Amino acid sequence: MIQLIRGFKDILPGEVELWQTIERTAVALFEDFGFDELRIPIMEKTELFARSIGEDTDIVEKEMYTFADRKGELLTLRPEATASIVRAYIQHKLHAADPAHHFYVIGPMFRRERPQKGRYRQFYQIDAEIFGDGSAWADVRLIHLLCTLMERLSVTDTAVQINSLGCPDCRPAYRRALSEMLEKVADRLCADCNRRRQRNPLRVLDCKVPGCREALTDAPALVDYLCEACKIHFDTVLESLTALNLAHQVDKRLVRGLDYYTRTTFELQTGALGAQSAVAGGGRYDGLVKALGGPDTPASGFAIGLDRLVEIVAQQQPARRRAPRLFIAALGPEPRRKAFFWRLALAEQGIRCEMEAADKSLKAQMKHADRLNAGHVLIIGDAELGKGAGVLRDMTTKAQVEIPLNNLVAALKATLAAQP
Ligand code: HAM
Repeated sequence: MIQLIRGFKDILPGEVELWQTIERTAVALFEDFGFDELRIPIMEKTELFARSIGEDTDIVEKEMYTFADRKGELLTLRPEATASIVRAYIQHKLHAADPAHHFYVIGPMFRRERPQKGRYRQFYQIDAEIFGDGSAWADVRLIHLLCTLMERLSVTDTAVQINSLGCPDCRPAYRRALSEMLEKVADRLCADCNRRRQRNPLRVLDCKVPGCREALTDAPALVDYLCEACKIHFDTVLESLTALNLAHQVDKRLVRGLDYYTRTTFELQTGALGAQSAVAGGGRYDGLVKALGGPDTPASGFAIGLDRLVEIVAQQQPARRRAPRLFIAALGPEPRRKAFFWRLALAEQGIRCEMEAADKSLKAQMKHADRLNAGHVLIIGDAELGKGAGVLRDMTTKAQVEIPLNNLVAALKATLAAQP
C-alpha cells in the first residue's frame, strides 16, 4: 500500500472540526481587527525565499523543497508566507494608493525538517502582516491580536517572549562585538556556526546544538547596543504591553530563524507542547519591501503554527465528529425511495440527515444512528407509509412521537428547530 510522505499528514473527520473552529475564530477576529485575506500561491521562484529569509538560515540552507520545473526554472514550495505577501504587495502596487495594509493568510507551508511531535514537513500557518506602519503601536497591535485569539480559544498557558534586533544603524557595532566574542569560542562551535560566524554572526545565536548554546552564554545582547530610536521603539512596545496587561518577558537571545527582522521580534511560547514550545513567532521587517524592489515601507507580522495550536486546543476540548441532526431508518423499498427524496429536501433546508446505504434491519440502522451520534431518528416502514405518519425518536431522551408524512420536511424543520 502506498503511504503518505514522511512528515506529511491527513486531517480526518473527527479532527478537522477543531481546525475549522480555530480557522473560523481566527477569520472572525481578523475581520474585527481590520485585516483582509490574501491568497498567495503554494510555490514561488526559489530566489524569493533565498533573498528574503536569508541564504545562511536553516530554512534556506537545509529545509526547502526546491526543484527544477520542466524548463529548468528553480521553484520552491513556500516555507512561510511573509516573502510571498511582500512580493504580492510590490507586484500589484498595493502601496500605490495607500501604503497601509493589513493582510492575513491561512494555509500550508513546507519545510524539510526532522519530523517529530509538533514539527511536520507540511504544516499550516495563520499569518498576519501590517504594512506601512513603522510605529511601535503596530507591533503591539499584532501581539494584542495574537493574545486575543488565544483568549477566544481559551488557551491560557502562554507567554510572550520579546526582543529587539535593532536596525542597520545599531547592528554593525553589535555584529563586531559578537564576532569578536565568537572568535574566542570558535573551537567550541559546530561546523555550521563556524561557517556562519564570518558571514552572518547573528545566525550563530539561533543554533540549537547544546555545545554552541553553552559556548554562547556570555554572548553580548543586541538590546544593549540599540540606538536611541530603536531603544524608544522597544521601550514603547514594552510599556504598551504592560499597560494592556499582556504578560511578556524580554529574551535577549531571541533572534528568530529568519534574516529579515529588524527591531521587535517575539514568540508566543507554551508549556503545553513539550519540546516544540513556540506556538507563534514574528516581528518587524522594515527593510524587506525595499530589498525586494518595492518602496521603502515598514512592516511587521507574525505566524501561528496551526498544527501546534490545534494540539493545545485539543487538550482541553477534544474534537468530535459533526453529527447528523436526523437519521432516517427506512425499512423496505418504498420507504427507502421516499427517504431518499426527503433526505435531499432536508439537506436543501439546512438539516444534516443520513440514512443507510443498503437495506438493513431496524436494529442495525438504530445502531448506526447511535454510532453517528444522530440527534433524532425517523423510523418509517410500509405500515407508517400506510398510516401517513412516521415515528420520530429523540436519541437523547428516547422519547418517541408520531410525525405526519405529508409535508414532512416542514414538520421536521419545525420540530428540530424547537430542539437545542
Ligand atoms: P516561524 O517562526 O518560522 O516564522 O514560524 C512561525 C510558527 O510556525 C512557529 O512558531 C511554529 O509554531 C510554526 N512552525 C514552523 N515550522 C513548523 C513545522 N515544521 N511544523 C509545525 N509548525 C511549524 C515565520 O514563518 C515568519 N514568516 C513569521 C512572520 C510573519 N514574521 C513576520 N511576519
